[in-house]
Amino acid sequence: METLREPTMDDSDSESGRLIMQASDDEVFPLTWYAVMWSKELTNRPVKRKVVGKDLVLFRDGKGRVKCLEAYCSHRGADLSLGSCSHDSLHCAYHGWEFNGDGECLRIPSQPDRPIPDFSHIKAYPVQEMAGLVWVYPQDKSEARPEELRVFPELLDNKYSLSPYDATWNAHLTRVVESVLDVAHLAFVHKKTIGRRLNAEIRTMLFEVNDRNRLVIHNGGGLLEYSFPQQWILRPSEKTSQSFVNYVTFTPISASETIIFGYAGRTFLRKIPLMNWVFSRYSLKILEEDRKVVESQHPRPIPEALRMEAHVPADGPQVRFRQRWYQFMTGSEKKIRTTKS
Ligand code: FES
Ligand SMILES: [Fe+2]
Repeated sequence: METLREPTMDDSDSESGRLIMQASDDEVFPLTWYAVMWSKELTNRPVKRKVVGKDLVLFRDGKGRVKCLEAYCSHRGADLSLGSCSHDSLHCAYHGWEFNGDGECLRIPSQPDRPIPDFSHIKAYPVQEMAGLVWVYPQDKSEARPEELRVFPELLDNKYSLSPYDATWNAHLTRVVESVLDVAHLAFVHKKTIGRRLNAEIRTMLFEVNDRNRLVIHNGGGLLEYSFPQQWILRPSEKTSQSFVNYVTFTPISASETIIFGYAGRTFLRKIPLMNWVFSRYSLKILEEDRKVVESQHPRPIPEALRMEAHVPADGPQVRFRQRWYQFMTGSEKKIRTTKS
């Protein structure tokens, strides 16, 4: 376990500080699994979603398996989410071309007896369901070598009743992530809700970096755990019979928009459906308090180097996140650049 020292303004002169200046780009994101919608929203009716600038169409095949293709038809570019599904195929609404879940064009109705040309096939993307969410790996299936998707164990533990919520912010992923690593904002942004009884002064900011992708922040009776790049959970620091957790995962829709999918999870009052509604609503209310501030931040993504914003010891976890982000930007980890549509 590595416990970081407090950040200082001198960090800007560190070796990583010099690297940072070479490679900032707000359109580059980690290539990984991103949640795009709730499982229960997806039927055999095609649905359009966007992740890292790519327009995608999702549907269930005849066996209920989730499929994900690029959103536009190879023929005349019609939006495939206007089409329909039958058996295992998606039919374009314009001229009825038929695609399977691997993006292969199976049939061209205007010339049913002629061979299907290669250029009629479209891209397919790796997709899977986990913890009630549909996750997409935004790279062409033929090239993609996705790592295993892991979520925090509470999401797969049926002791928890999970109340879902989601929100879309006009903000860069990096600013959204930082908002959940930030303890000092609670007494201000959330002064009427979760920060009501909190003191603005932060005497010690204790956090651990267990490996380069895992950051754990000690905050009173809670532990905030961030798993780079896209998942976060708040859990009690001590095990109790009545446990409450709050989870969020972040998906870059584009360089300027991020969608947040969350669960408020509890092991108590599980049989009262109204409580699901209450927990979802309250979580949304808190997110809404954050949204206004995070959407106001300039520059839109985090700046290109640590020295370009002022840091104090209470910002330690965010500084650590920036170091990890700059390491990602300047290193050889898998990246995806947003597509402009
Ligand atoms: S545009 Fe899709 S079949 Fe013509
Ligand atoms: Fe907040």
